[in-house]
Amino acid sequence: MAARKRVGVLVSGSGTNLQALIDAAKDPSYPAEIALVVSNVATAYALERAKSAGIASQVIPHGQHKDRASFDRAIIDALRQNQVEIVCLAGFMRIVGKELLDAFGGRVLNIHPALLPSFPGMHAVRQALQYGAKVTGCTVHFVDEGTDTGPVIAQVSVPVLETDDEDSLAKRIHAEEHQLYTRALKLVAEGSTRIEGRAVRINGPR
Ligand code: GRF
Repeated sequence: MAARKRVGVLVSGSGTNLQALIDAAKDPSYPAEIALVVSNVATAYALERAKSAGIASQVIPHGQHKDRASFDRAIIDALRQNQVEIVCLAGFMRIVGKELLDAFGGRVLNIHPALLPSFPGMHAVRQALQYGAKVTGCTVHFVDEGTDTGPVIAQVSVPVLETDDEDSLAKRIHAEEHQLYTRALKLVAEGSTRIEGRAVRINGPR
């Protein structure tokens, strides 16, 4: 079996997606292991999750850096020190800069709570409700320099119910996110993805 890919997860909050990845990686046949968790917020619950799982973590507060490039460099250093090969953004509330994208070119993933290219940016669930969409969902994509614009790796749809408010819809999307992120990271880590134009092609059985 090929060596498992070392993954760094960048978080800012609760970290339920981080937890899903940690749980998936408990299976030795899963092609990735979580090597490091980096949070820009010292109080993020995701840090507790890393600690409970015995995973190394670092707090890198963005406020202590004079600009984004310097913040990015601190994150790159932490990732490199831990031999990270793939970076997963999981509720990381900062925009990732060019330096980090260059350092981990084509190996930075993000999860977004809508079917991109619909409803990018903040408050995607609220936007879908306000628009009156009947279906929304979640997307895992490679990160590029835009906001939620990179090539789509995997998506799943979630119906919008007449009775939904932002909270109820967000909860159902969140539950789907956990499975989607686990599946998308597996595809990338096992080398089943390749980019053609702006499309991600998946090799072999899914
Ligand atoms: C998720 O809804 C994800 O789509 C968005 O941020 C949220 C993170 O949730 N990017 P959690 O911290 O993983 O629970």
